[in-house]
Amino acid sequence: MRIDILCLFPEMFVSPFDCSIIKRARERGLVEVVVHNIRDYTHDKHRTVDDYAYGGGPGMVLKPEPIFEAVESIKKQVDYGGLPIILLTPQGRLFTQQVARELALHQNIMLVCGHYEGVDERVREHLITDEISIGDYVLSGGELAAMVVVDAVVRLIPGVLGSPLSFHSDSHSNGLLEYPQYTRPEVYRSWSVPAVLLSGNHGEIARWRRQQAILRTLKRRPDLAKQANLSTEE
Ligand code: ADE
Repeated sequence: MRIDILCLFPEMFVSPFDCSIIKRARERGLVEVVVHNIRDYTHDKHRTVDDYAYGGGPGMVLKPEPIFEAVESIKKQVDYGGLPIILLTPQGRLFTQQVARELALHQNIMLVCGHYEGVDERVREHLITDEISIGDYVLSGGELAAMVVVDAVVRLIPGVLGSPLSFHSDSHSNGLLEYPQYTRPEVYRSWSVPAVLLSGNHGEIARWRRQQAILRTLKRRPDLAKQANLSTEE
């Protein structure tokens, strides 16, 4: 998979993409992340990317020309026909595990990071094919949101995680939160690991985990529990 990111602060991506799972996935050639500076597509001395809003009001708006030029230049190198060109914005559809799974199916995705008061509406209307928000709050730019999307998508690319089954029990992968996890020691400060997990009875363990996942989801996220695929008994 190739992920192109267009933004104003490319340096923000250096450290997060150079650690842990994303670093390994890049080194193994499973994903290529290419970060582009929108400012490189300006033509004036001050490399201007923003301007005042028509109609007045506070804050600056990202100009259309550098964004169009950046996207069109990338499209010359990589065929983006039918592939998503995504604007990160608090106005987008909410990013969920389901959306991450959907994006992970593509060969390439392009992420455009907004900044300041927003982007000129013509970018949305004529260039962008999808808009994503990572939550109902406002960040100072789309860069952090793009990192969240990249992280959630990259770990779903086949081969990225050690075991192909690793993400099957993740919270949200089956509409439920994940069950409680324990590791050694068996007793820590007098707190014991639930006996069922030491029983060696895989059927019982699976039942307990499913039950815990349901209880936890009901308690913490009743909104998710309503939509989960539960059997009559459950
Ligand atoms: N840019 C600013 N806030 C954002 C959010 N919540 N999600 C995605 N992009 C953003």
